[in-house]
Amino acid sequence: MAGENSKILVVDDEAVIRELMIDILTDEGYNVESAPNAFEALNLLREDSDIVLLFTDIMMPKMTGIELIREARLISPSLIPIVMTGYATLESARAAVKEGAYDYVLKPFSLSEIKLVVANALERHQLATENARLRDLTELFIISETIATFHKEQALLDFVLKAALSRVGAERGSVMVTTPDGSALEMASSVGVQEEFVGTHVQMGAGISGWVAEHGKALVVEDIGRNPDLKEMSRKLQDASFISVPLERKLTSEQQGRYKFPSQQPKVLAVLNVNRKQSGGFFTEGDLKILSIVANHAAVALENVRLIRTVDEAHLSTIKSMALALEARDPYTHGHSERVRNFSVMAAMKLGMSQRDVETLRLGAMLHDVGKIGVKDEILNKVERLSDDEWQQIKLHPVIGYDVLEPVGFLSKDHLSLIRSHHERIDGTGYPDGLSGDQLDDRVRVIAVADTYDAMSSNRAYRQGLSPDRVVTELKRCSGVGLDTRITDLFIGLIESGEIHRYETEEPTYDE
Ligand SMILES: [Fe+2]
Repeated sequence: MAGENSKILVVDDEAVIRELMIDILTDEGYNVESAPNAFEALNLLREDSDIVLLFTDIMMPKMTGIELIREARLISPSLIPIVMTGYATLESARAAVKEGAYDYVLKPFSLSEIKLVVANALERHQLATENARLRDLTELFIISETIATFHKEQALLDFVLKAALSRVGAERGSVMVTTPDGSALEMASSVGVQEEFVGTHVQMGAGISGWVAEHGKALVVEDIGRNPDLKEMSRKLQDASFISVPLERKLTSEQQGRYKFPSQQPKVLAVLNVNRKQSGGFFTEGDLKILSIVANHAAVALENVRLIRTVDEAHLSTIKSMALALEARDPYTHGHSERVRNFSVMAAMKLGMSQRDVETLRLGAMLHDVGKIGVKDEILNKVERLSDDEWQQIKLHPVIGYDVLEPVGFLSKDHLSLIRSHHERIDGTGYPDGLSGDQLDDRVRVIAVADTYDAMSSNRAYRQGLSPDRVVTELKRCSGVGLDTRITDLFIGLIESGEIHRYETEEPTYDE
């Protein structure tokens, strides 16, 4: 069965044929519209999307039935056309079928013939509709599954916008994200938006996005040209059809409090706007439904991404405070972790390592000595020479650090291996695993030189820091033996030029 509102359109220039068809079809319980020519038929099709079946005569003045079928399918691609013809034009009827007509009926018709043709056509329409629905559902399912895989807010918003645009066939669009204080919205992602509007802010309540965010309601406008009030609200949309949907918050206030989100989180997290239909047509209620589903999934994912970031940040600051607490036990190593981080990041950047590797070093180097938390104060701060046993205890710290940090979810294997291997040497004389050569990747080689440099140049409980000349001599002695030559040379150059001192206090970033 077709939908309850399904209608049949009958087009014939002979009034008697139209009336006969209307009688037959109305008696069968169908809703029928009729038109005396192709132009009126096309107007009806434009205005009424419930028309699913078209009966048309072939020979009509000005525009033939075959031409009508071609035009009608542009307006309503799922429309099923059937031609009505006499024996004299049977060949044209067959040609019409080749042109896309579903079937033909011969005049004069019998009641049973019409009933059968209509039943077949409606069944086919229903199948086609179900197929289209299934395709929509499958695509939406894939979009929602993909949305849930993002870890970064920007990548998530970019994907949501692109998926929304392609799903409803829109040319332009944007995602406006509510600022943390809820007072405004800022453009976080855009496609096809004029340069001057990229990255703009709107106040909450202002413009179309501001209205949607404030009211938490979607807005679908077929043609903004017919809505002077809305046209006034937004200079950007001018004369196009658009849809704006809110991404509404899902967490309760209690859940937000638990995760320490700002207490006055706005109800709407963001607004998804799409504008200008590719086909030049108008957006429909169906498009609105699709976007609402996408927005719903996007809202959940956006909250999750933010939640994970909040938890990660809390976790990270806990771990960093562990590293700082450790340094508080030993005034001589004050600032060591941060300096080793700065030197490592600086060297990694100068060596042209990937941003990912640089960031792994940034965190790994900060935490490299965390395992000293498991070494007794009297050994750590001992001024006299260490006994063999005490030395063995000190040498446990890379493994203790590895074990303490291993359960921390957001630290990767690469972070953990930096912590475990920062005392390994390329000639195999290091600890704890006695790795050598190719077993030590560039990141481990960088942290080894940075740590050695800082240990030699800073004051310790048992000695003063070495002079730059002595440090250079020592580094040259180790170069190519325990430490990587290229990295050692890089440090020597920076020591000799004095540039290294800059990084004692300055953390290199990509924003410089
Ligand atoms: Fe260490």
